[in-house]
Amino acid sequence: MSDLVIASQLDATFNQALRERLATLHPGIKVIEVPVGVPSDLPPEARILMGRPINVRGYQAPDTPPPGWPYGLRWIQLASSGIDFYPAWLFDGLPVTTARGSASDPIAEFALAAIFARNKHLPDIWVTDADWQFTALTPVKGQTLGIVGFGSIGTALAHKAQALGLRVVALRQSDTPFGVDGVEAARDIHHLFAESDHLVVAAPLTPDTRHLINADVLASAKPGLHLINIARGGLLDQEALLNALDHGPLGFASLDVTEPEPLPEGHRLYSHPKVRLSPHTSAISTRGGEAIADILLDNLQRFLTDQPLHNLADRTRGY
Ligand SMILES: NC(=O)c1ccc[n+]([C@@H]2O[C@H](COP(=O)([O-])OP(=O)(O)OC[C@H]3O[C@@H](n4cnc5c(N)ncnc54)[C@H](OP(=O)(O)O)[C@@H]3O)[C@@H](O)[C@H]2O)c1
Repeated sequence: MSDLVIASQLDATFNQALRERLATLHPGIKVIEVPVGVPSDLPPEARILMGRPINVRGYQAPDTPPPGWPYGLRWIQLASSGIDFYPAWLFDGLPVTTARGSASDPIAEFALAAIFARNKHLPDIWVTDADWQFTALTPVKGQTLGIVGFGSIGTALAHKAQALGLRVVALRQSDTPFGVDGVEAARDIHHLFAESDHLVVAAPLTPDTRHLINADVLASAKPGLHLINIARGGLLDQEALLNALDHGPLGFASLDVTEPEPLPEGHRLYSHPKVRLSPHTSAISTRGGEAIADILLDNLQRFLTDQPLHNLADRTRGY
């Protein structure tokens, strides 16, 4: 295949590493760099778009595609797992695949880091002088971890959590078995919140899941529950969260995602003593580019041999 061109919105380092891998696997396939944002005026020879999130940091793409869309494209591979950061028209017609799975282990590790930080009082426990105070730290082993959304991230997290001796209770959208021995199914989201010491949100943001975690659900929480959101800010009603932290029953929240992003200066979540915020960073890893390229190259092989693509996005379902 010598006339195939991938138009990439990813950075120069990713594109160069991809070219080097393609040189061995598929010599002749070219990678060209195109601007981020709405993919516009793509050269007609570009068959594949390696796309990155569009509707981020306050930007909202127009409701209609740019003139000439979809140019010569045959397939779009996204660099993200969620599909909520893209305009609807991107999914009309061409197959669109996601990077689902590329960051599941790093995100699961990040959720566990939040659990350890909470139980072991990190970073407050570190000393910088001779005034040593002793604090009893809470064992993670024997606690219950709730997981909302049991896809790629939920599965990776459940394996690691069970290895640490956590009991895992979970909830997913469908009746599909969890596929991880020992994971218990919650009756419903209220039951899940009532059972959990730590609860990780790992579901997609869709019209159905917006504010899935609202005042009503938070009122069901086990007293002291630690809520960890590594999915999307819009799944959580932030005002209801603040109220549940101030007046009970919630004990703590570790939020890697918020709505909007970033939160405006002075927002209460920045300074709340029971909140730890991180800047949507749980998926960003030193091996992230390689993992995304793995998915692109696996799908490229499928594309070239007319096999079904992996991780096809389902716009109607929302993930
Ligand atoms: N922080 C980040 O940078 C970052 C990175 C990657 C992903 N994410 C977010 O995390 C989400 C999950 O990622 P993933 O890779 O694990 O996705 P995934 O493999 O597609 O899994 C999504 C899971 O959510 C479940 N679900 C859907 N609607 C639900 C509902 N109403 N209640 C309970 N569960 C529901 C699905 O259930 P079924 O399997 O039964 O359909 C599925 O198990 C993504 O959509 C994305 O928004 C964030």
